[in-house]
Amino acid sequence: MNQEELFKNLISHCKEYGFIFPSSEIYDGLAAVYDYGQLGVLLKNNIRDYWWRSMVQLHENIVGIDAAIFMHPTVWKASGHVDAFNDPLIDNKDSKKRYRADQLIEEHLQKIQDKIDKEIDKAAKRFGETFNRQLFIETNARVVEYKQKLNSLHARYNKAMNENNLAELKAIIEEEKIVCPISGTCNWTDVRQFNLMFSTQIGSVSNESDTIYLRPETAQGIFVNFLNVYKTGRMKVPFGIAQTGKAFRNEIVARQFIFRMREFEQMEMQFFVKPGDELQWFDYWKKIRLEWHKALGIPDEYYRYHDHEKLAHYANAATDIEFRFPFGFKELEGIHSRTDFDLSAHQQYSGKKLQYFDAENNESYVPYVIETSIGLDRMFLAVLSYAYNEEKLNDGTQRIVLRIPYILAPIKVAILPLVKRDGMPEKASEIMKMLQPYFYCQYDEKDTIGRRYRRQDAIGTPLCVTIDQVTLEQDIVTVRHRDTMKQDNVHLSELKNYIYQMVAIEPTLEKLNQYAGIFA
Ligand code: GAP
Repeated sequence: MNQEELFKNLISHCKEYGFIFPSSEIYDGLAAVYDYGQLGVLLKNNIRDYWWRSMVQLHENIVGIDAAIFMHPTVWKASGHVDAFNDPLIDNKDSKKRYRADQLIEEHLQKIQDKIDKEIDKAAKRFGETFNRQLFIETNARVVEYKQKLNSLHARYNKAMNENNLAELKAIIEEEKIVCPISGTCNWTDVRQFNLMFSTQIGSVSNESDTIYLRPETAQGIFVNFLNVYKTGRMKVPFGIAQTGKAFRNEIVARQFIFRMREFEQMEMQFFVKPGDELQWFDYWKKIRLEWHKALGIPDEYYRYHDHEKLAHYANAATDIEFRFPFGFKELEGIHSRTDFDLSAHQQYSGKKLQYFDAENNESYVPYVIETSIGLDRMFLAVLSYAYNEEKLNDGTQRIVLRIPYILAPIKVAILPLVKRDGMPEKASEIMKMLQPYFYCQYDEKDTIGRRYRRQDAIGTPLCVTIDQVTLEQDIVTVRHRDTMKQDNVHLSELKNYIYQMVAIEPTLEKLNQYAGIFA
């Protein structure tokens, strides 16, 4: 099965098992907006909790806040979002479909890269162990030609984007004969800028000055509270402020399920440092954030850094942690060294001094900022796209299993009486009551034990506790593990501890805590 089919199956699976539903589905849904179902909300909470505790609980110099979604409209003028939070859009006149001009060109560039990769793969197979990759890339006529084209097109595209040259973007699309995937034609409108912020009116009288925006990022709520937190929390630089919450963007092209949504949740942390120290802290956070991902046990090859060569005007370093989604490596998290751009802009627009007083050196300055920013929904998709597996078992049967990292799994334990009689359901209920205050449990007595195991595999439950005759006689249960399908016998007096060791978040936090400080 190819990745595209697997991804389609994952989307259906999310709906079938109550992870994610299209928003307002009985009215045929709303594009790029999704609701989290009964299991989805638990997984989402667990991811958020893992992030929050790693940031706020493990770092004594990071505190959390929860700022309002609505903010004073000048915030977005100062941050640059009113003037520059735009995407270049283009319409196909035949299909009437709208696209992002930059995405059309980037996909075209990717196609050229794919051709190069294909040539290399073919040659690698043909020559086997004697294959010299570098030599082939440098000398194969077709590869050299593709590479030259790719480089010159890349340079032209980057220049057009940097200079905001919309006519040039259209020229690239037309000259490269990039067609609309629906109509197959190259009949395009001009490229126009489109602001991604949703606006609405506050109060009962609507005029220009009442226009406010749904926040397109949570970060600005942190910047405008810098002074409040610094003063009331008696914070000392370097210190951080963390926040999770909804953000809204009127994405032109919202595709790939919950990868790009119009309403989504972010988990952001702004770390305020002394000017001059920022690149050292940037490296620190770059490493810490990757360790956070890897501590989940998802193999290393799913992650890579993408260091930005072209930096935004306010940044002096930026990298993405990319994840190998079923549709390729894509940004999962951004780590940016944003200099003093945001605080200085708010200082200028608000007229309030946003400075830190360094008592040791008797000096005041506007701190520099390192930002870590990750989409909660995107992280959800990363976890599920790794977790979703259609497995052939040794006995020839198949199972769908969600290999969700144990600490994130929505339901930690299934409680399964072997049969629905002989006092087993009653004993199972007792065990359920004992475990419920500590773990999310699910009780199931319907169907054969094999079918019940499959149902739990499909929702990613790490452990199934089976209650049988031995339980009634000796207080011993069987604990079956999702990934290995191996079973252990555990005495009831040990059960809580046994489960805790497997599924609790604390041992992972303990591991992560070893990294805090060592990169700085
Ligand atoms: N404050 C910086 C900021 O917002 P960003 O790269 O625009 O930077 C940060 O967004 C993260 O938010 C991304 O890495 C991604 O995980 C997530 N994100 C951004 N737009 C999103 C969308 N439309 N849907 C889902 N997640 C999104």
